[in-house]
Amino acid sequence: MTLLEGSVGVEDLVLLEPLEQGSLLKNLQQRYEHKEIYTYIGNVLISVNPYQQLPIYGPEFIAKYRDYTFYELQPHIYALANVAYQSLRDRDRDQCILITGESGAGKTEASKLVMSYVAAVCGKGEQVNSVKEQLLQSNPVLEAFGNAKTIRNNNSSRFGKYMDIEFDFKGSPLGGVITNYLLEKSRVVKQLEGERNFHIFYQLLAGAEADLLKALKLERETRCYVYLNRKVSRVDGMDDASNFKAVQSAMAVIGFSEEEIQQVLEVTALVLKLGNVELADEFQANGVSASGIRDGRGIQEIGEMMGLNSEELEKALCSRTMKTAKENVVTALNVVQAQYARDALAKNIYSRLFNWIVNRINESIKVGTGEKKKVMGVLDIYGFEILEDNSFEQFVINYCNEKLQQVFIEMTLKEEQEEYEREGIPWTKVDYSDNGVICNLIEHNQRGILAMLDEECLRPGVVSDTTFLAKLNHLFSKHTHYESKVTQNAQRQYDHTMGLSSFRICHYAGKVTYNVNGFIDKNNDLLFRDLSQVMWKARHPLLQSLFPEGDPKQASLKRPPTAGAQFKSSVAILMKNLYSKNPNYIRCIKPNEHQQRGQFSSELVAIQTRYLGLLENVRVRRAGYAYRQGYRPFLERYRLLSRSTWPRWNGGDREGVEKVVGELSLSSEELAFGKTKIFIRSPKTLFHLEERRRRLRLQQLATLIQKTYRGWRCRTHYRLMRKSQILISAWFRGNMQKKRYGKIKASSLLIQAFVRGWKARKDYRKYFRSGAALTLANFIYKSITRKFLLGLKDNLPSTNILDKTWPAAPYKCFHTANQELWQLFYRWKCKKFRDRLSLKQVENLREKLCASELFKDKKASYPQSVPIPFRGDYIGLQGNPKLQKLKGGAEGPVLVAETVKKVNRGNGKTSSRILLLTKEHVILTDTKKSQAKTVIGLDSVAGVSVTSFKDGLFSLHLNEISSVGSKGDFLLVSEHVIELLTKMYRAVLDATQKQLPVTVTEDFSVRFKESSVAVKVTQGPERGRNGKLSCKKTGSRCLDVTV
Ligand SMILES: Nc1ncnc2c1ncn2[C@@H]1O[C@H](COP(=O)(O)OP(=O)(O)OP(=O)(O)O)[C@@H](O)[C@H]1O
Ligand SMILES: [Mg+2]
Repeated sequence: MTLLEGSVGVEDLVLLEPLEQGSLLKNLQQRYEHKEIYTYIGNVLISVNPYQQLPIYGPEFIAKYRDYTFYELQPHIYALANVAYQSLRDRDRDQCILITGESGAGKTEASKLVMSYVAAVCGKGEQVNSVKEQLLQSNPVLEAFGNAKTIRNNNSSRFGKYMDIEFDFKGSPLGGVITNYLLEKSRVVKQLEGERNFHIFYQLLAGAEADLLKALKLERETRCYVYLNRKVSRVDGMDDASNFKAVQSAMAVIGFSEEEIQQVLEVTALVLKLGNVELADEFQANGVSASGIRDGRGIQEIGEMMGLNSEELEKALCSRTMKTAKENVVTALNVVQAQYARDALAKNIYSRLFNWIVNRINESIKVGTGEKKKVMGVLDIYGFEILEDNSFEQFVINYCNEKLQQVFIEMTLKEEQEEYEREGIPWTKVDYSDNGVICNLIEHNQRGILAMLDEECLRPGVVSDTTFLAKLNHLFSKHTHYESKVTQNAQRQYDHTMGLSSFRICHYAGKVTYNVNGFIDKNNDLLFRDLSQVMWKARHPLLQSLFPEGDPKQASLKRPPTAGAQFKSSVAILMKNLYSKNPNYIRCIKPNEHQQRGQFSSELVAIQTRYLGLLENVRVRRAGYAYRQGYRPFLERYRLLSRSTWPRWNGGDREGVEKVVGELSLSSEELAFGKTKIFIRSPKTLFHLEERRRRLRLQQLATLIQKTYRGWRCRTHYRLMRKSQILISAWFRGNMQKKRYGKIKASSLLIQAFVRGWKARKDYRKYFRSGAALTLANFIYKSITRKFLLGLKDNLPSTNILDKTWPAAPYKCFHTANQELWQLFYRWKCKKFRDRLSLKQVENLREKLCASELFKDKKASYPQSVPIPFRGDYIGLQGNPKLQKLKGGAEGPVLVAETVKKVNRGNGKTSSRILLLTKEHVILTDTKKSQAKTVIGLDSVAGVSVTSFKDGLFSLHLNEISSVGSKGDFLLVSEHVIELLTKMYRAVLDATQKQLPVTVTEDFSVRFKESSVAVKVTQGPERGRNGKLSCKKTGSRCLDVTV
């Protein structure tokens, strides 16, 4: 904030100390001398005309001010325009910029600066740029036709202008509407010393090509024209010729067609030429003075240009037709009257042309009715005027300013004070002058000065400015703001400045004395009907269209509204318009009367500051608060600055606002809480809030929105992709399965077809010739098989198991089957045989089997033993009790009982012995003795040895450790050696679970009393067939046995 530091004086008069007229002027002067032409009073901008081009405008300054808030940079018109535009765009509030000030104070320049700023910062685009161009180009056209050089301003606007620029919701311009007020048309026919007519006349003469001039029947020289002031034809620094080109191109940009431009120029030329119509005295036959046109050529040309008969025109100019109930009475006009009529026509044509131009511009820049618009109004209207001789024009102008002051008071001062009271904010009352009384004095519908004037104009009988004044004197004799010679006299005041035909009004800005002369006339603003009718008859299309009331069909006896009434109603419309908008004030001040740079006339500025009520303005500002807003909108705007109110606030609006400002730690003096609004004292604070909102929070929030949006976009995209992917895969899978199914179906059909084909072929094969052989073969094969099997049934061999005969297979092919059948039959036979066997036979056969395992193919006597059943008892043990005793204590049945020979190991002689084999013992006894000689436990038998010959010799090897074993092994001879050893083997197995080792050998040794005798068996000639054997001891330890 550069409010104080580095600034010249104070930039905001609110900070002025001490606050008085003198210091205020000094501050303005000091700043002006430092080329600081702008100063604030709060949000009101004071602009002092620099009368020089300062380097503070242009694109770089626009760029600078658009990025900063109001108080951040030096006071500038761009700052104000920026605030208004941003408020319009961002807060959706229609704006109006009221530019007021004296003539030459810089209002029009200010309005152009505002427009150029807005044009530079608002949207871009082809359409928008063309609208902007049209809006900007309306200025040179309106200035050419409505501005003129005056003694106070070389480019003085001689009309009031209010321009509504309309924007769309984005803040891009759509178009606009221009309203013009009260063109100073008297200037067309007469200008003051040192002043000029409207610029367009000079521009046309200086800038038009020779052809154009010729076509318009004009001379280049300005002095040829009576309406153009001959003394001043040029203005310093103003190039009329080039301005004319600029006007032409501006008209083209706005949308005027070639013909329209041409016609406008023709009408302009006509006005000039009308001024040159000289009227001369003439006398009618009856001696009454009349008038006529002196130079016939001029009127001829005018008639041609207008498309009128010049005589008709002359008649209209020099006579007047009065309509009475019965007839039309034509009266001739004298020279003065005729001149008046001519001038009235010229003024009317010009002012109507001006209105037409404004309407034509409006047509080009107008916005469609359907569109929702935001509006920025710029009012550039003549300021308060106090001249030497003030007439009707000054009266209405000052009335307008009085109304504007009222707007200002209503909208700032009064409204402000009332609002503080309403809101219950403590506040020191500031006295301000309420100009409602003065407005009322002028505009009151029944008792206002304007109403009185209208009444006088309409009143039948003798009416003059004097009767009008008398009426005012009568009505306002007691009015505090009204004075005249009469009221002064009544109060016995002497005032030499007050003329007899004058009245004075105490305006808010000062007292102004008005001369009533011409009031009635100017208010009537009548154009004789003859003139308007003749104009309507003109074939010139534009001219004709300017006088619609000349159309006899439309002619009405009703008077048109008076100038005063018209102005009043247009001021009322303007006021209504302004009240509906947010006002922004630019107060323009003229620093000197000489249009000189660097000159600052304190007296002149003092008067203007008084008119503008600047001091009062500062006082109210200082006492009050710069800014206020309802709690709800304030909260809506700034709640994002506090964590407690953002993003959601559920409490009341006021509490929310308190929370926000509380967190921002703003000084309590800066704030006041009203009933419905918060008040902020200095703009600094507001801009601080705005700054925080814009720079800090909005960026964050924008990022958040961006983030959320991007997230949403990606999510949506992802979902879409996912959906598509699912769809694609579903279709793909479906398609794949369909194809697979198709394949499977095709394959199944193929297989089915094959199977069916195969089955069909199989079924039908029998019908095939090629299959007949097989069928026959099968048949034959089956029948021979049947025959073979039936034959076999009848020729089965005997069921004797020893009978191994079996019929041979009749064919080779049955060989394997025949062998199988034979095997089956044999096994069946055996089974039958086995089933028939008794237990005993089974036991015998087991023994025989065991004998076969032990001796088959090992001992020569074995084959002989096979057919002979094992008897076991060969000594008649069963029937002999004597022999029974031999068994002794041995348990179980006697397995073998026979007589064996024992070979004496000592000498080789043999002796008989009875051998009994029981389940556990081998018992040897002497044949003569009935007592057992040797009892050998089967567990003591370690093995037996036999020869392979047919003999019955065997050796019984005993365990050395057993009691009988100590005597040595036994060498015995049995006639039933196979049976004996087989049964002994089985008995040992049963008793000891061990297999008895049976050794078949010819050389073995037998133990004999601690030593052993080697037994060697040889075969004798008998080969052991007789069972005899001879033993011969060949040494002490050798025994040869011959069998
Ligand atoms: N900001 C400015 N910078 C430079 N010159 C300026 C500025 N403002 C005004 N002027 C000068 O002052 C002259 C008068 O200004 P302008 O025409 O705007 O006055 P005005 O208030 O519109 O007067 P009027 O009421 O007569 O129309 C301009 O022609 C211009 O030379
Ligand atoms: Mg102006």
